[in-house]
Amino acid sequence: MTRLSVNLNKVALIRNARGANLPNLIQVAKDCESFGAQGITVHPRPDERHVRFADLPLLKAVVKTEFNIEGNPTRHFLDQVIANRPHQCTLVPDDPGQLTSDHGWDTIGQADFLKEVIAELKEHGIRVSIFVDPEEAAVEGAKEVGADRIELYTGDFAHNYSKNPDSAVKDFVQAAKRANEIEIGINAGHDLNLENLQFFKKEVPNLLEVSIGQALISDALYFGLENTIQMYLSRLK
Ligand code: PXP
Repeated sequence: MTRLSVNLNKVALIRNARGANLPNLIQVAKDCESFGAQGITVHPRPDERHVRFADLPLLKAVVKTEFNIEGNPTRHFLDQVIANRPHQCTLVPDDPGQLTSDHGWDTIGQADFLKEVIAELKEHGIRVSIFVDPEEAAVEGAKEVGADRIELYTGDFAHNYSKNPDSAVKDFVQAAKRANEIEIGINAGHDLNLENLQFFKKEVPNLLEVSIGQALISDALYFGLENTIQMYLSRLK
């Protein structure tokens, strides 16, 4: 089974545009779960332009499925994650002002740093996933530093899918096979959508979770949130 975790950053972005509480992020999280989402993901960035650190305890109090907090593990981020004990923390090497995440970790060059951070999170009972590009060496490095899972960065897959789906997914299949061999779990995310998700799920063996925000929230403008979540779930069957 591949779980669908809904990334709520864009819901928070709309809320923040007006300074009040519309849409109500916490209610949206509860509704996503009641509409079938199997997880809630948030990515608090240092400038808090999307989800804010103050949202974390409120989300933690209501999320009943799987709470996933992703972000760059600065000291502040780690303290907030540890204080809020999500089920999973996904480490992402994004710069403070970056528009969106666009690459994975250098799991070999940054091994010492990652080892330390992962050990600290695991000490607090938090499962750790690390964002990686679809390269066997990066996957092996992720295992080496103690991560429980990798999250494959799927931006390049999504970008190339329309040109040639088979060649777009090739490296991901290879990386996933290696992950399965060395027994590290596989998540995936970035730019997955109603067109490319089913194919990705079919091709990538043992995909445990996808986290989807931009396309899913955009689709919800047309189809409604409940229908949209059902449509994404149907692509994962
Ligand atoms: N995974 C990570 C690590 C991300 O940074 C993001 C975007 O915040 C996503 C998944 C979701 O990407 P998208 O919004 O394109 O679905």
